[in-house]
Amino acid sequence: MQVVKYMFQPHGDDRGQLVALEEFKDIPFKIKRVYYMYDTVTDVRRGFHAHKALEQILICIHGSCKILLDNGHEKKVIPLEKPYEGLYVANNMWREMYDFSPDAVLLVLASELYDESDYIRNYDDFLAFVKASEEENK
Ligand code: TYD
Repeated sequence: MQVVKYMFQPHGDDRGQLVALEEFKDIPFKIKRVYYMYDTVTDVRRGFHAHKALEQILICIHGSCKILLDNGHEKKVIPLEKPYEGLYVANNMWREMYDFSPDAVLLVLASELYDESDYIRNYDDFLAFVKASEEENK
């Protein structure tokens, strides 16, 4: 399973750092939605879903957290610890977010507007969806 982590270009000078992200340039899709998580309670694990179509980039712009990605065959844990790192999360990918530091702010750039019908929230349904997609692409 290939993990795609972007290293964004910080524009640093003696005033500090600035990262700028443009759709189709730094981000591989049109950014239709931005959301972020903060004040995440210690030991909370969230996510527990996949998306049928949505693509995302996850950036821990402050603090740190871990992301578990699962493509139905393989799982990988990716730590996010730097504000210039972006983890690409494709559709058809189960994700869980955990180990949030108390100061963590997890920013998400998303390719679609919020749509509950794009969510797969049951793990067995996710495995069945992956299998069906693979059959379709054979
Ligand atoms: P939820 O799906 O539980 O977050 P996670 O997958 O990280 O556990 O979302 C929490 C709440 O926020 C839920 O009531 C739905 C709402 N929400 C929106 O209204 N818009 C959004 O873009 C997102 C991601 C969530």
